[in-house]
Amino acid sequence: MFRVHKIRHQQKTKFEKMDNQKNEIVICLGSSCYTRGNRKNLETIKRFLKENGLKGKCAFTGKLCSENCGNGPVLEINGEKFTKVKPEELKGILQFKMKI
Ligand code: FES
Repeated sequence: MFRVHKIRHQQKTKFEKMDNQKNEIVICLGSSCYTRGNRKNLETIKRFLKENGLKGKCAFTGKLCSENCGNGPVLEINGEKFTKVKPEELKGILQFKMKI
């Protein structure tokens, strides 16, 4: 199961201010998250964006560590932080949280 956390206002990135992009994904690519599942999650996100015509309409970036390694893999979708994201759960999360 994954947990949802609201990101503190100060942690939001510059992409929220971009008017022409309605979705934002930030994936943690630190070594802990990467080996615990974000390697597969990265491919799932790329495939999801392509299949749903969201390439160019989503700010998709990576960061080196979200300082939450014990709860990894970590990623953020439209301002919500998701922890312990299992690759088999990610497609459902994307379908539910992305503005398509
Ligand atoms: S490597 Fe992802 S939170 Fe540290």
